[in-house]
Amino acid sequence: MEHPLTKCTRMFFLLGMVMIELQSYGSLGCWEDERAGLIKLKDALFDDPIGSSVLSSRGGGEERDCCKWEGVVCDNATKRVSGLSLSYASEFRNLWSPEASLFAPFQELQNLSLASDSLTELTNLTNLEMLHLGGNVLMEIPSSIWDLTSLKALSLSGNGLNGLLPLRGFCKLVNLQELDLSDNGFEGNLPSCLMNFTSLRLLELSNNKFEGAIPSNLFPVLKSLEFVSLSHNLFEGTFSFSSLANNSKLEVFELVCDNNGLKVDTENPPWTPLFQLKVFRLSNCKLNDKSRVLPSFLLNQFELRTIDLSHNSISGMIPMWLVANNTRLEFLELANNSLTDPLTLDLNSTHLGMYWIDISSNHIQGELPSLISSAFPNLKYLNLSSNSFQGSIPPSLGDLKVLDLSNNNFSGQLPFTDYASLMYLKLSNNCLQGQPLPSKSNVTNLFALFLDSNSFSGEIPRGIMNRPIPSGFCKSKELNFLDLSENNLSGGVPSCLKNLSSLRFLHLQRNEFRGPLPNSPSLVSASSLVTFDVRDNKLQGKIPGWINSFSNLRVLLLGANSFEGPIPPQLCDLGNIRIIDLSHNELSGPIPSCLHGIKLGDRKSFDDPFRAEMEGSSVFDPSRYYSYENQLGVDQPGTLGIIIETDLKEEVQFITKSRLETYKGNILQFMSGIDLSLNKLTGPVPHEIGYLSDIHALNLSHNHLIGQIPESFSNLSQIESLDLSRNSLSGQIPPKLVELNYLSVFTVAYNNLSGRTPDRKAQFATFDEHSYEGNSLLCGVPLERRCTTNEEMSPPPHPSHAVQDDTFKVAFLSTFWPTYAVAFVGIIVILYFCPYHEFLISV
Ligand SMILES: *[C@@H]1O[C@H](CO)[C@@H](O)[C@H](O)[C@H]1NC(C)=O
Ligand SMILES: *[C@@H]1O[C@H](CO)[C@@H](O)[C@H](O)[C@H]1NC(C)=O
Ligand SMILES: *[C@@H]1O[C@H](CO)[C@@H](O)[C@H](O)[C@H]1NC(C)=O
Ligand SMILES: *[C@@H]1O[C@H](CO)[C@@H](O)[C@H](O)[C@H]1NC(C)=O
Ligand SMILES: *[C@@H]1O[C@H](CO)[C@@H](O)[C@H](O)[C@H]1NC(C)=O
Ligand SMILES: *[C@@H]1O[C@H](CO)[C@@H](O)[C@H](O)[C@H]1NC(C)=O
Ligand SMILES: *[C@@H]1O[C@H](CO)[C@@H](O)[C@H](O)[C@H]1NC(C)=O
Ligand SMILES: *[C@@H]1O[C@H](CO)[C@@H](O)[C@H](O)[C@H]1NC(C)=O
Ligand SMILES: *[C@@H]1O[C@H](CO)[C@@H](O)[C@H](O)[C@H]1NC(C)=O
Ligand SMILES: *[C@@H]1O[C@H](CO)[C@@H](O)[C@H](O)[C@H]1NC(C)=O
Ligand SMILES: *[C@@H]1O[C@H](CO)[C@@H](O)[C@H](O)[C@H]1NC(C)=O
Ligand SMILES: *[C@@H]1O[C@H](CO)[C@@H](O)[C@H](O)[C@H]1NC(C)=O
Repeated sequence: MEHPLTKCTRMFFLLGMVMIELQSYGSLGCWEDERAGLIKLKDALFDDPIGSSVLSSRGGGEERDCCKWEGVVCDNATKRVSGLSLSYASEFRNLWSPEASLFAPFQELQNLSLASDSLTELTNLTNLEMLHLGGNVLMEIPSSIWDLTSLKALSLSGNGLNGLLPLRGFCKLVNLQELDLSDNGFEGNLPSCLMNFTSLRLLELSNNKFEGAIPSNLFPVLKSLEFVSLSHNLFEGTFSFSSLANNSKLEVFELVCDNNGLKVDTENPPWTPLFQLKVFRLSNCKLNDKSRVLPSFLLNQFELRTIDLSHNSISGMIPMWLVANNTRLEFLELANNSLTDPLTLDLNSTHLGMYWIDISSNHIQGELPSLISSAFPNLKYLNLSSNSFQGSIPPSLGDLKVLDLSNNNFSGQLPFTDYASLMYLKLSNNCLQGQPLPSKSNVTNLFALFLDSNSFSGEIPRGIMNRPIPSGFCKSKELNFLDLSENNLSGGVPSCLKNLSSLRFLHLQRNEFRGPLPNSPSLVSASSLVTFDVRDNKLQGKIPGWINSFSNLRVLLLGANSFEGPIPPQLCDLGNIRIIDLSHNELSGPIPSCLHGIKLGDRKSFDDPFRAEMEGSSVFDPSRYYSYENQLGVDQPGTLGIIIETDLKEEVQFITKSRLETYKGNILQFMSGIDLSLNKLTGPVPHEIGYLSDIHALNLSHNHLIGQIPESFSNLSQIESLDLSRNSLSGQIPPKLVELNYLSVFTVAYNNLSGRTPDRKAQFATFDEHSYEGNSLLCGVPLERRCTTNEEMSPPPHPSHAVQDDTFKVAFLSTFWPTYAVAFVGIIVILYFCPYHEFLISV
C-alpha cells in the first residue's frame, strides 16, 4: 500500500526529524574540543583524577555531556563552557601552575574559580567576567590578570599577597563590580585610580596593611557601592563618614580599627544619608573623639539588622530608640562605651529577630526590665556585665542561652525560673543572696555556672541521699564549670556534686564550708575533675587517700583550711597534677619522698585541659542574620569576629614570687608549683624533690623542716621562686644553686644555715640580705658578716648527707672537689717552678 503522505508533508516530517536530531545533539552535549580540554585540565589538576568528583559526571549517563559535569556551567544557547568552578577542589589537588594553554579551548569562559598555588598566565580569556582565586597561596599575582579587562568580579582574598598593588595593571580593571582583596598583606595608600571603578558594588579590603587616609573624594564617585569593608588595616588621619552620604545603594559598612589612630567623624559637615544600611560596624576607631556622640545619621536608619559600635567611648543615653526604629534588628553590640541611663523598653512591637544584645562595660543604671523576654522573645545572648544595674533579676529569661550579668549590683534572691535553655550563666560580683540556685530550678543544659563573689548563704541541700531535694545546680549533667567561691556558704562540701558527671572546674574557695571532706571518692564524678579549689574554708580532718581517684586533676588547692595529719602518699599518684597548694593548714609528719613521682611538667597533651568548648553553641551561627548576594561569595558582613567565646578558660590563683598570681587558660599549662608552707611538717627535705625539674614555684616555708638543703635542688632548672624560709634547716647553701637561671625569688631566711652565701653570680647577684637574714652562721655578701678563713674554705657537704643523696650527686661530689683541688695546686706548682718567660712560651 502506497504511503498517503504528500511530498510537502514528507519534507515537513524530515525537517522535524532533523530538529529532533539537533535537539538530542544539544542535550548530548558539549563541544568535543571543550570536552577533551576538560579531561586534559582534570589530568593536570589532580593527583588522582579518578578520585576527585570535580570535572566528572554525576552519573545518570551524562558522561558525554560535559556541560553536566561537576564544576562546569555551559551557555544554554551555544553549549559552550562559560563557567568553571575548580576552587577548593578537594585533597586530590595537585600543587600546580596551570599552563595558559590549558584554558585555550574555552573561548567563551566567563566565570573561573580556581585553586592554584601559583599561576603562570591566564591569557586569551577575553570573555572572562569573574575570576575567583581566593583561598590559595598565590604569593604573587600573575601579570596577565591585569589584561582581563572584561572582569567584573575579582577575588584574590587570602593568598598571602603583600607589598604594593601593581597599579599599572590594577588600574586597568575599571569594569570591576566586585573586588575582594581581603586577608592579604597589601600595603600602601588606597589606589587613587579606584575612583575610576565607577561600577564597583562590593569593596572588601579588610585585613590588609593599607595605610594613609581614607580619601573623602572616593565614595562620592563610586555611586553603585553596596558593600564596603575596610576593617583591620593601618589607616590614619580623619575619615569623614559623610562622604558616603549620596551612596544611596550602600547596605553594608564595616570599619573595625586596631588602635592605629584613625579618627572617624560622622557629624561634620551636617548631612542626611541617602542610604539605608543593613549592617553598620564601626568599632574601636576614634569615633567623634571630641564630642563622643553617637552618629546622628542613625536617626534616619530603619533597616538595620546589625549594629556594632563597641569600643568607641560613646557617651550619652543608651540609644534604645535605635532598637525601636529598627524593628528587624538582630544584633546589637555596644560594649565598652560610656553609655548611661536605665534600659527602657517602650517598644511598640516585639523584635522577633533580635538574638544578640551586648551592652557590657558601660554605665547603665537602674533595673533590668522584666519585659525583656517578651520584647525580644528569641534573644539568645544577653551580656550586661560591668554596668551599674541594680534590683532583682527578672523571673523570666525566655530562651536565653548565654546570660552574663556579672559585675553589677543585682540583689535579692535568684528567682525561681526556668533555666532549661541556659547554657552559660554568670552572675559573679553582685549582691545576690539566699540559695545559690533554687532547688526547683530546671538547669538541664547548664554548662557553666559562675555565682562567685555574691552573698549567697546557708547550707547547700545535700541531695538525694539525705532526702532534701538537691540544689538546682546539682542537676545538670552538662555542667563543666561551677564557681561558688567568695560567698557565705556553710555546711559540708555538698555531696550532691557527685551527680555532676561532666564537672571539670570546681571552685568553692572563700566560703564557710566546714567538716571533713567526704570519706568516699564519690564527691564528684572523680575522673573528670581538673580543678578542685576549696581554699579558704574551715575544712578539717585528714586529706583523704581517695584523692588519687581524681585521675585528671591538674590543680589541687586545699590551702587555708584546718586539714591535719600527714600528707597522704596517694597524692603522688596524681599523674597529671601541676599545681598543689596545701599551705596554711595543720599538716604534720614528713614531706613524702614519693612526690618526685608526679610529673608536674608533662604538657604533651595536645588538648588544653584548661579550656572547654561549649557544645551546641552553634546556635550562635552568625551567618543567619544577614545574607548579602554577591558573586564572590564574600563572607557575611558583620559576622567576622563576633562569635561567642565558646572557649571558656579556667582561671586559678596561686602564690608565686611572693604574690598571688592569677593564671588563666593556656598559661596554666605552663605553670607548675607546690606550696606546703605554713604547716607543721617535720623531717628533712627529701632530696627527690630535686627531680621535679619542671617545677616553677616551690614554697616549703614556715614548717619545722630540718637537715640540709638538698644538693639536688640545683636540678630544678625551671624554678622561678624558691622559699625555704622559717624552718630549721642547717648546713651550707649548695653553691651550685647559682646555676638556677630562672630563679627570681629566693629566700632561706630564718633557718640555721651556716657557711658562705652562694656566689653573687647570675640570678644570685639580684638577691639581697633579706634572702639570707636570720641565719646567724651565714657569712659573705650581701650579708654584713664577713666570712672567716675557715668559712671561706668551708668543707664539702657532710659525708653522711652525701650518702643519702642520689648516685649522680655522689659521683659528682667525689670527683668535683678533688679535680678542682688538683687543678688549683697544679697551677700554683707551675707558676712556682717555671720562669716567667718559659711560662709564657709554654702557654
Ligand atoms: C538553561 O536551561 C536550563 C534547563 O533547560 C534552565 O533551567 C535554565 O534556567 C536555563 N538558563 C538560562 C540562563 O537560560
Ligand atoms: C592567544 O591567542 C593568540 C592569537 O589568537 C595565539 O597566537 C596564542 O597562541 C594564544 N595563546 C595561548 C596561550 O593560547
Ligand atoms: C582614570 O582613567 C583615566 C583614563 O581612563 C585616566 O586618565 C585617569 O588618570 C584615571 N584616574 C586615576 C585616578 O587613575
Ligand atoms: C550629595 O549630593 C548633594 C546634592 O547633590 C550635594 O550637595 C552633596 O555635596 C553631595 N554629598 C557628597 C558627600 O557627595
Ligand atoms: C575599650 O575601648 C577602648 C577604646 O575606646 C580600647 O582602647 C580598649 O582596649 C577597650 N577595652 C577592651 C577591654 O576591649
Ligand atoms: C527614630 O527615632 C527617632 C528618635 O527617637 C525619632 O525621632 C524618629 O521619629 C524615629 N523614626 C521612626 C521611623 O520611628
Ligand atoms: C509607638 O506608637 C505610638 C503610636 O503609634 C507612637 O506615638 C510612638 O512614638 C511609638 N513609639 C515608638 C518608640 O516607636
Ligand atoms: C560579656 O562582656 C564582657 C565585657 O565586654 C566580656 O569580657 C565577657 O566575656 C562577655 N561575656 C560573655 C559570656 O561573652
Ligand atoms: C547597690 O545596691 C544597694 C541596694 O540594693 C545600694 O545600697 C548600694 O548603694 C548599691 N551600690 C552601688 C555601688 O550602686
Ligand atoms: C526541664 O527542661 C527540659 C527541657 O526544656 C524538659 O524536658 C524537662 O521536662 C524539664 N524538667 C522539669 C523538672 O521541669
Ligand atoms: C553568713 O551566713 C550566716 C548564716 O549562715 C549569717 O549569720 C552571717 O551574717 C552571714 N555573713 C555575711 C557576711 O553575710
Ligand atoms: C557567573 O557566576 C555568577 C555568580 O555565581 C552567576 O550569577 C553568573 O550567571 C555566572 N555566569 C556564567 C556565564 O556562568
